Amino acid sequence: MKNKLEEIRAKSLAAIEEALDPGALDAVRVQYLGKKGSLSAVLKQLGSVSPEERPAMGQLANEVRAKIEAALNERGKALQDALLERKLREETLDVTIPGKSVETGAKHPLQIVWDECVDIFVGMGFQVAEGPEVELSTYDFDKLNIPEGHTVREWTDTFYITEDEKVHLRCQTSPVQVRVMEQQKPPIRIISPGRVYRKDEIDATHSPMFHQLEGLVVDKGITMGDLKGCLDVMLKRLYGPETVTRFRPHHFPFTEPSCEVDIQCFECHGAGCRVCKGEGWIELLGAGMVHPKVLSGCGIDPDEYSGFAFGVGLERLVMRRFSISDLRLLFDNDVRFLRQFS
Ligand code: DAH
Repeated sequence: MKNKLEEIRAKSLAAIEEALDPGALDAVRVQYLGKKGSLSAVLKQLGSVSPEERPAMGQLANEVRAKIEAALNERGKALQDALLERKLREETLDVTIPGKSVETGAKHPLQIVWDECVDIFVGMGFQVAEGPEVELSTYDFDKLNIPEGHTVREWTDTFYITEDEKVHLRCQTSPVQVRVMEQQKPPIRIISPGRVYRKDEIDATHSPMFHQLEGLVVDKGITMGDLKGCLDVMLKRLYGPETVTRFRPHHFPFTEPSCEVDIQCFECHGAGCRVCKGEGWIELLGAGMVHPKVLSGCGIDPDEYSGFAFGVGLERLVMRRFSISDLRLLFDNDVRFLRQFS
């Protein structure tokens, strides 16, 4: 029996040393210390040992058990530590490595002012409407009361798409007014920012493609006072609360009466200087009360409804806003220029 116990001790300790993971170690424990394990099997034979030898054998068996348990614990702990060590090594995170910087772009100055305008008007209950850039002449000219023979209809002014002059690149955002009025019943409150095209030579203040923001309000009892109040709010929000506006009579075929709107020169406050070319005022946009012919042409009764409209060149707003003196800078896509707006 003594030999058997010694053999169990030697074999189990060797097996414990060889166990490479907690699972294998547990199998060793079951094999030697389990209910049906080798040690239990030997202890069952203790009864057949002579009474003189029995205490010594019992003691030896206990020693062997204690020895195996201790070895199991030690090996178990070593395996856990090794496991943890490996995990830590595999999952190291070097917090001192510099992060990867994410390059963020900047909004184009045109987009900045576009978004500001949309914000201002949405705040006043306007919706944003869209229209096609390739437009029918009926919408850009006829329904806007622009007569045959008007210079804007000339091939030298407008990019025609078809020979019959029925389709062209829109030269203003005003046709969106017609498209909206044909589809919606008053009350109407829309703005429509977008690209427009004219056969202009490129220079510091002209480009064959530029942007306008159109506005239209149609309801019962709309007056020129509403137009003035609305544009006053827009220009003060864009240029600051001290901005002084001036409304000057003008002519547009699709409004009656019509006006042009100026802001007082922010440089000289009306005295006249280089910025305003001695005028004291800077012309910004066209506006007026929607012509009764335009309203009725869209199926809106001019005796019941009235409206105002305006159209403003976005580039002009942007150039005033950021003191940019050459329009070409807006389209050159020179990142050194554009980065300034980030
Ligand atoms: N469409 C005009 C232009 O391009 C600007 C304009 C003037 C728009 C008066 C309007 C308006 O809606 O009422 O010059």
